[in-house]
Amino acid sequence: MMREIDTVHQSTPLLTALQQCATRSTATFHTPGHKRGKGVGKALQELLGDRVFAADLPELPELDNLFAPSGVIQEAQALAAQAFGADQTWFLTNGSTAGVIAAIVATCDPSEKIILPRNVHQSVISGLVLAGAVPVWVNPEFDPNWDLAHNVTPDAIAHALTQNPDAKAVMLVSPTYLGVCADVAAIAHLCHQYGVPLLVDEAHGAHFGFHPDLPISAMQAGADLAVQSTHKVLSALTQAAMVHVKGDRIDRDRLTKSLALVQSTSPSYLLLASLDVVRWQMATQGKALMEQTLQLAEEARSRLTQIPELAILESTRSPGVFDCDRTRLTIHVANLGIDGFTADDLLNQQWGVVAELPTLRHLTFIISLGNTKDDIERLVQGFEWLREKPKKSGSSVIGHWSFGSLVIGHQSFKDKGHSVLSPKLSPRDAFFAQHEVVPIQMAATRISAELVCPYPPGIPVLVPGEVITEKAIALLRQILVMGGTLSGCANPKLETVRVVKTIS
Ligand SMILES: Cc1ncc(COP(=O)(O)O)c(C=O)c1O
Repeated sequence: MMREIDTVHQSTPLLTALQQCATRSTATFHTPGHKRGKGVGKALQELLGDRVFAADLPELPELDNLFAPSGVIQEAQALAAQAFGADQTWFLTNGSTAGVIAAIVATCDPSEKIILPRNVHQSVISGLVLAGAVPVWVNPEFDPNWDLAHNVTPDAIAHALTQNPDAKAVMLVSPTYLGVCADVAAIAHLCHQYGVPLLVDEAHGAHFGFHPDLPISAMQAGADLAVQSTHKVLSALTQAAMVHVKGDRIDRDRLTKSLALVQSTSPSYLLLASLDVVRWQMATQGKALMEQTLQLAEEARSRLTQIPELAILESTRSPGVFDCDRTRLTIHVANLGIDGFTADDLLNQQWGVVAELPTLRHLTFIISLGNTKDDIERLVQGFEWLREKPKKSGSSVIGHWSFGSLVIGHQSFKDKGHSVLSPKLSPRDAFFAQHEVVPIQMAATRISAELVCPYPPGIPVLVPGEVITEKAIALLRQILVMGGTLSGCANPKLETVRVVKTIS
């Protein structure tokens, strides 16, 4: 059986068709205008070479059609579904962003509710705007030691479902950016008891399920839909992603139509072919590649923990932490006497060591199948150097306060048992309403037209459609004074905020 699966997965139908088309001699009268590279600007050709342009082709008959696949794309997607444990898979050329938006549009009609963790990615807000769905927020569990939001618990989702039995779907972000997973299996079971589908934003978990020491994938855990950024942790080209569906709780035709709303009608075959090759790579060598990746991550962990000033986020089972991805390293750097942004700059400038995500106190590094022993050596040496480097000021610059406690403390819905009441306007109504920009001191009682999310902890204080309170303004100001950053909003210094215009 294993041998049969391996044989099937040795083929790369989409890549092979693209190779054949790219090497054929043609007089080309179709898009793209560079005509297989002959018309491309010299500087770009020097950077990228010829072959990439020869393969940058449109939807020729031999290459199938992403939006009505019946040939090589259909074959490649079917193989991907098998490899990633789904019943059906769709290839995406607009990242998980497109998949997350389409998942919401495919499951919620305007004014229908969807249960979500508060620390969603901004693509979810876009999905809410497009669908017109109304969010029922669930607070993630918060880790005061690390000042980080982790995941949501099955209890919190159960509570939200009991309070909102009319919700049309539940969405999770699992893993979080830092690799912390929810108990997807328990939550899937709960959702199914209520007859609603579980959608999982698994943007950072495309490698899950390929090794017993990695968390199980959302598909393996019984989710109905999972969106994966194949480009983030596997070897696909940037923007290439997949949506997987299992079972019949998702209307697949509606999902196909929803994806067509948010993707280009000229999908890049370079991206699509890269997805076909990732499937081949993971189906045939996935376990060995993940073994190697995990070993590199363990080596980095054990060597970095020997530096006494550093701490590495570890998987301790606690509410909101069901499992952790060991290939993601979040390193607490504040005890080196510098903040995370400075550490990031220094490591980058002096050692060419580039982190995925710097925050005030931590740096997060993604270790993936493309990393080498040399990379780990450089990472460790960089930190050893950072430790010895004389610092301008002591560790007191960062202090011991926690943004997360402030944000969680501010979320009044925590006291009401996890889930919030409906916002004043839906994100969609707030998006389409007329806006104005007002000084922050004039913003209290107005309805926010934008997302305002402090980092850390990555939990939005304001979502479009919510009323801005004095408390929220004071909190956001305090976070800025303490050195935190705000994202999602047009003015990250918070001198002004975009609000819904009042019609007099
Ligand atoms: C949790 C999460 N979901 C979705 C996305 C969007 O993914 P993509 O960049 O593939 O569009 C991201 C991107 O960082 C993310 O972190």
